[in-house]
Amino acid sequence: MTRDVFLKQMGLATAAVLVGSLDGLAATNKKKLKVALIGCGSVSGSYLPHLKRSNLIEVVSVCDIIFERALSRAEEFKIPNAYRNIDEMLAGFPFDMMITTTDMQEHGWINKKGLLAGKHVWSEKPMANTYAEGKALADLAKSKNLHIWGAPAVVNSPQFAFMNKCIQEGKLGRVASAHGQYGHTGPTWSSFFYEENGGSMPDLGVYNMATLTGLLGPARSIMAMTSIVNPERTIDGKGKINVVAEDNAHVLLEHDKGIISHIMCGFNFFDPHGHQAHNQKLHSLQIFGDKANVRLVGYDWETNGVYLDNSETEPAQLLSTESGGYEWKEGATVTGESLLTGIKPKITTEHVLHVLEIIEAARLSSATGKKISMKSTFTWPMM
Ligand SMILES: NC(=O)c1ccc[n+]([C@@H]2O[C@H](COP(=O)([O-])OP(=O)(O)OC[C@H]3O[C@@H](n4cnc5c(N)ncnc54)[C@H](O)[C@@H]3O)[C@@H](O)[C@H]2O)c1
Repeated sequence: MTRDVFLKQMGLATAAVLVGSLDGLAATNKKKLKVALIGCGSVSGSYLPHLKRSNLIEVVSVCDIIFERALSRAEEFKIPNAYRNIDEMLAGFPFDMMITTTDMQEHGWINKKGLLAGKHVWSEKPMANTYAEGKALADLAKSKNLHIWGAPAVVNSPQFAFMNKCIQEGKLGRVASAHGQYGHTGPTWSSFFYEENGGSMPDLGVYNMATLTGLLGPARSIMAMTSIVNPERTIDGKGKINVVAEDNAHVLLEHDKGIISHIMCGFNFFDPHGHQAHNQKLHSLQIFGDKANVRLVGYDWETNGVYLDNSETEPAQLLSTESGGYEWKEGATVTGESLLTGIKPKITTEHVLHVLEIIEAARLSSATGKKISMKSTFTWPMM
């Protein structure tokens, strides 16, 4: 079935999906965006309840190659259709947007199939395995008047907005350096995290890469060292596997105006709080200027506030402590809703692709010992 036929059948013409305003939405008589999620593993358990809370979204289908998982999520979240693979799902109940939460290595080809079938796409990170593959997806989407967006959603947090404002208003003075770190002892439930094109950079470092480039501007070049600290892992239901992707990474980013930032991520970081971001009292990211510094408490994907240090005599102030409704798993919901409301999401495809290129450049830098120039850029400041 073509997209045109589908839209006619569903009475949800493109014009209705892409209405430019909330008034337009009212005129569509409360039609909802129909979404289908592929990959019913761990993260789907966070995505589906968030999607179900949206008044503008209807989750019509779920899919997993381990069919019992799709059936189980369908039952848990009262979703009418469950499928065994993407082809069945695309040929099945019509929908507008695909949400990809499969193994990281599968995202590229799955997202391409979704776009070719005329679906908008939200993808968990990374959007594709390489920058070139990701850029081709973005071009394909554009050529078909569709959207593709990807995780993470860190730029949506009020704390990101607060730090951005501090920098843009010159509160930090001349910004020079920044550091971000994120790690835990590594997932045990799936082996793809440790296989080729997996690793701690696309799974964890990606958050800090999005935050620091979002705040400091595009990276112009990258230097990195990555390693495998733990060459063997035990995966639930699978036993011992050999680790192929890095589980330890240090990445240096050169931004404009001499600003240098550093990101450290890994699957070997002891985490005393059991990885619960709301329990984190320490900062994981800091930005230094010559008038003030900011320190982000908790992780950038779920933060508990920002310390602003701008006095030599007074203690740092803890500011921006409210979540403002932001949740790390909101990306698919927010971008999906934007197709109906016309409210432009803060997450941009060009930024997501830039981060993907950083990961690729870091792998190349580590392998060759060279500084790698970046090709991609994005519109900055982001807000
Ligand atoms: N687990 C989390 O809390 C979390 C948080 C943020 C982001 N993520 C990201 O979400 C993605 C998924 O992670 P996860 O932890 O949920 O993994 P997972 O292994 O728990 O789930 C992945 C699911 O995808 C299914 N799958 C794989 N290939 C498929 C295919 N071709 N078609 C249909 N289904 C397929 C698998 O059977 C599995 O059920 C990754 O990109 C990860 O980085 C995970």
